Amino acid sequence: MSGLFPRPRAVVAPGAVHVPEWLSPQRQRELVAACREWARGPVPLRHTVLPGGGVMSVQTVCLGWHWQPYRYSRTADDVNGARVAELPEWLAELGREALREAYGGGGPVRTYAPDTALINFYDGTARMGMHRDKEERSAAPVVSLSVGDTCVFRFGNTENRGRPYTDVELASGDLFVFGGPSRFAFHGVPKVYPGTADPATGLSRGRLNLTLRETGLGAPGR
Ligand code: SIN
Ligand code: MN
Repeated sequence: MSGLFPRPRAVVAPGAVHVPEWLSPQRQRELVAACREWARGPVPLRHTVLPGGGVMSVQTVCLGWHWQPYRYSRTADDVNGARVAELPEWLAELGREALREAYGGGGPVRTYAPDTALINFYDGTARMGMHRDKEERSAAPVVSLSVGDTCVFRFGNTENRGRPYTDVELASGDLFVFGGPSRFAFHGVPKVYPGTADPATGLSRGRLNLTLRETGLGAPGR
């Protein structure tokens, strides 16, 4: 939802760029509708179980490749064994548009070919601890799109989970890209602000986040 004051675009760390309200309301509605479909299957949206038996508070469904702690596979062996849905070309193209927006036309933009998307749903109490996206064998940037409730996104350093870090509010429609020297930085979501979503997106409560990545594992189906 648009606030009273425009939120400025910011380079949070080298290679880490926040672009507020990048997704149009129409794009947000389309993403919500698509996520609703993906949440149904072939692999349903569910809470990921960690190797130690803990359960993530966030609910997740993947496209292209299935992520489970801490590897990618084509089938969701920790859920129902089904093959994950394809990552549609329009979503990969949205990822390239996002890189153009964040970095301009050069660099990784021309060759960016995300082959997995992790879709995370946060209810009002869900959180995500500080972690690195490190199962990919590609140093290509991660593109993050948010719809629904505003959250605090903590963007840290590449050394450890602690300081220095920067807390950024990610609201509905915001784009965040982390690549280059920030690609393997720790990051997490310590807080979601329930009730801040604009129901006009089709998501009346909670927060959706899509991260697009290149796995570097080769084309699914091969
Ligand atoms: C993630 O790190 O995979 C998700 C980040 C977010 O929800 O903004
Ligand atoms: Mn992550």
